[in-house]
Amino acid sequence: MAYEVKVHLKPSGLKGISENQIAQHWKLYEGYVANTNGLLAELEALRKEGKGASPLYADRRRRFGFEYNGMVLHEYYFGNLKAGVAEPAGTSALKTALAAQFGSFDAWKDDFAKTGASRSIGWAILYLDPAAGVLANHFVQLHEEGNVAGFVPILVMDVWEHAYMVDQTATGRPDYIKAFAENINWDAVSQRYDDASAGKIPARF
Ligand SMILES: [Fe+2]
Repeated sequence: MAYEVKVHLKPSGLKGISENQIAQHWKLYEGYVANTNGLLAELEALRKEGKGASPLYADRRRRFGFEYNGMVLHEYYFGNLKAGVAEPAGTSALKTALAAQFGSFDAWKDDFAKTGASRSIGWAILYLDPAAGVLANHFVQLHEEGNVAGFVPILVMDVWEHAYMVDQTATGRPDYIKAFAENINWDAVSQRYDDASAGKIPARF
């Protein structure tokens, strides 16, 4: 089985994040899909050759998490970007839960932005721990260091430089984070939360 590029997730018409920025970022996502498929095939071939205990196999195994998470997190990321979607109503389940856990919705937003401003390449992710019903902001380094097993990504923000270097300079992350906040597909994000809270696996694409 091979993974496919989920073309319907490609955003357009965003405010403050240009079409060229998205186009170049999308090419990187396509690379993660290709590399995930390539690694799947390479690992299978090595096993068939009886090389499952080789240093090469171990090296490719370690690379697997980078490419796989790179593919998956970009699908969450592009899937939660859309222009012109209003913030959830104050009575919505997600907004109510965020306000209860962070003091206010704005306090959560501020912490999510600060999470994304962490001095590292990686991702800011609002997770739901479906077992405990807890929402929490996490920072994931690279693509694979910091993902929490069993937690469900509700909102995913890429803060690698490649996510904003076309539009901004290397010091432009704060402006990018502001632009990201203006283009959140709250309908998709709320649906992820509602599904995960109800014990369903949210659709990633
Ligand atoms: Fe990215």
